[in-house]
Amino acid sequence: MKALILAGGTGSRLRPITFTRAKQLVPVANKPILFYAIESIRDAGITDIGVIVGDTADEVMAALGDGSKWGVSITYIPQDAPLGLAHAVKIAEDYMAGDSFVMYLGDNLIANGITALIDEFRAGGCNAQILLAHVPNASQFGVAELAADGTIKRLIEKPVDPPSDLALVGVYLFDSEVFKAVNAIEPSPRGELEITDAIQWLVDNDYTVRPHIITGWWKDTGRLDDMLEANRIMLDMIVSEMHGEVDASTRVHGRVKVGVGTTIVNSVVRGPAVIGEGCVIRDAYIGPYSSIHDGCAVIGSEIEHSILLPRARVENIGRRLADSLMGCDAVVRRADGVPAATRVMLGDKSEVEIV
Ligand code: TTP
Repeated sequence: MKALILAGGTGSRLRPITFTRAKQLVPVANKPILFYAIESIRDAGITDIGVIVGDTADEVMAALGDGSKWGVSITYIPQDAPLGLAHAVKIAEDYMAGDSFVMYLGDNLIANGITALIDEFRAGGCNAQILLAHVPNASQFGVAELAADGTIKRLIEKPVDPPSDLALVGVYLFDSEVFKAVNAIEPSPRGELEITDAIQWLVDNDYTVRPHIITGWWKDTGRLDDMLEANRIMLDMIVSEMHGEVDASTRVHGRVKVGVGTTIVNSVVRGPAVIGEGCVIRDAYIGPYSSIHDGCAVIGSEIEHSILLPRARVENIGRRLADSLMGCDAVVRRADGVPAATRVMLGDKSEVEIV
């Protein structure tokens, strides 16, 4: 069995962050989302992984390499344009060479891994297995309608009026029959080859598609709020590690992980939180659910429930920064002098909320 990770796409819902980086490489708890997917696949005993890459191919390839640091073998499959999840399957046909595979959306996170699901699929009895989860906002997802006997009746992509609250989770298991489906379907009105249409084709043509409703935590990190929630869940699992230097006037409470070369002076750090390597935390409050990446500075400021990418700086802002995501080298600081105005230089599609 092989794996197919989708790491192309547009990432339009996470702009401006995705103007300059692949959304699958945004870190939660200081680790790129994509790394969690690779670890889950490796832990399920799969070592051959095809990775679909788009505009951000160079960055994804630099981050994953040949996969040897995880003990897996990665093959990159370029996708000329984000033409849909089923299109990604279609261009992976040669790579799969008749094998069954797990398809994993590179911006999804699933608690407790996928080993049990893979074992269930390997035990046989179906051509495809889809994962479903009860969600409050089904119209934002592919949605499944089940028949009275629990089999799949219908799948619809982002329905205005969802027939159920069962969303398709971003992990799918297929045998090679799926290639008949992706080669038979036509693009949807939004111009994409939809995976829901491919699975519907399997259902309509009497292939066995087994639904599996998951109860554990799962997150599609397409938007900022989802990213912050994923960060929260992953930070809930960290264990304390102190590799930095903390002075006598600093208090550290709860589970906090601090990297080498980081100095924390006259501050309060309340976990769960992770602070990377080479950071400066001074006269600051680092509150729960903060992930501060390497080379950042938080000085004379308070921050909580936020993600700071490498080398971001928060200096003397005099109010608490919360629910925020700051990109690499981004700076928020207090300015002295007159006029006492808020001055910004924001990239396209940036957002600042001032209270
Ligand atoms: P989506 O989140 O559905 O699409 P997107 O990345 O284009 O995001 P947005 O809607 O914000 O513009 O994609 C799910 C995953 O699949 C994500 O990791 C990107 C990847 N993907 C591909 O690799 N190829 C594709 O053609 C598409 C549509 C997505």
